[in-house]
Amino acid sequence: MSSSESPAIEPTGVDAATVDRLVTEAERDFAAATTSEELKAARARHLGEKAPLVLANRAMGHVPAALKKEVGARLGAARARVGQAHAERLEAIAAEELGARLAGEWVDMTLPVDLVPTGAPHPITALMEQLGDVFIGMGWEIAEGPEVEADWVNFDALNISPHHPARATSDTLFADPVDHHLVLRTHTSPVQIRSLLTRPLPVYIVCPGKVYRADEFDATHVPVFHQIEGLVVDKGITLGHLKGTLDHLADVMFGGVRTRIRPSYFPFTEPSAEIDLECFVCHGASVGDPEHPCRTCSSEGWIEWGGCGVVNPRVLTACGVDPEIYSGFAFGMGVERTLMFRNGAQDMRDMVEGDVRFSRSLKGGAR
Ligand code: PHE
Repeated sequence: MSSSESPAIEPTGVDAATVDRLVTEAERDFAAATTSEELKAARARHLGEKAPLVLANRAMGHVPAALKKEVGARLGAARARVGQAHAERLEAIAAEELGARLAGEWVDMTLPVDLVPTGAPHPITALMEQLGDVFIGMGWEIAEGPEVEADWVNFDALNISPHHPARATSDTLFADPVDHHLVLRTHTSPVQIRSLLTRPLPVYIVCPGKVYRADEFDATHVPVFHQIEGLVVDKGITLGHLKGTLDHLADVMFGGVRTRIRPSYFPFTEPSAEIDLECFVCHGASVGDPEHPCRTCSSEGWIEWGGCGVVNPRVLTACGVDPEIYSGFAFGMGVERTLMFRNGAQDMRDMVEGDVRFSRSLKGGAR
C-alpha cells in the first residue's frame, strides 16, 4: 500500500475494483466450504484480523478527505456483503450437517428387535417342577433316590420276584460288575421303599426323576425317560383317596379331562389299576365308528397315562410297616407322556435332541 499525495487518487486496496474482487473471492471461498470447519477457516481469511478488507479499513487514514465518505461506504458495504454471504453459508452448512447427523442416527422403530435369547429350563424339567408343585400345594414332600439302585430295592422289596419278566435282561440295564447287584433303576417305585424305610409315618411323597430301560430309540420310546412316583401310607387310606388325588392331578395338568381307572396288575400294588385319560383328540367319538378311526387312542376313547394301586401289604411288611394298621396307595406315570398329552408333542426324540426350537415352542411348559 502506498500513500499518495494526490487528493484525487484512492490508495490501492480500497479502489472499487479491488474491493469487488475481495468480495467475490470471499463469496467464492464461502461457497466452496462444505463443512463448518472449512467455513471457519474461510471466515478467518476474509473477515479475520488479517483479512484484506479488514486491513483496508486501517488504510482509511491515507484516503484523501474528499474520498473518505465514499471509500468508507464502499468498504462498509463490502464487509456487510461478505458478512451476509458468510451467515447464509453458515446456516446452510449447519442445516446440512444436522440433516446428515439425523440421517446417521435414524432408527426404524418398526423393525423387529433381535432380542438376546435368554435361557429357560427344559420342558421336561419345567413340567417335573409343575407336577411336584401340585403335590407341594397339598402338603406332600418331594423324595429322591439314586438312579443306580440296588436290585433288591428296585425289584425284590417291591414284590418283583427274581423270575419276574420285569427283570429280563432285555429291559433292565445292569451295572458292572453284575455281582454287585446294581441296576439303573427301571422305574421310580424304589423310592417308595427308600421313603418307607427312612421316613416317619405317615408318608406323603412324590418323586419325579430319571429312569432307564434297554428300549428302542424311536418316536414313542427313549432308553432314558422320566416318571413321577407318588406314595401315601397312612391310617385308613383307600382306593377312593387314590382316585381323588389322580383326578385332581389330571385336572391341574389337562383342565377338566375325564379319567378312569381300569384293572391291571403290578406286583407292588393290590388291587392294581391303570389310570386312563379321555382321548384328547376324539373324546371317545371314534369308539364303534369304523368310518372315523382315531390314531391317538386306536379308537379306544381312552389313553393310558400311568399305573397305580393300593400298596401291597407285602411291600409294607418288607419295609417294617404293619399292614394291619397302615394302608396306602401309589401311582407312577411318564413325564414325557404327560408332556405329549398336554402340549401335543408328537415325537419323544425331540425331548432329548436338545434343539432349542422345541424348547422354545413349549416355552414355560405351556398354558
Ligand atoms: N412303576 C410302575 C411302572 O413303571 C408304575 C406304578 C407305580 C404302578 C406305582 C403302580 C404304582 O410302570
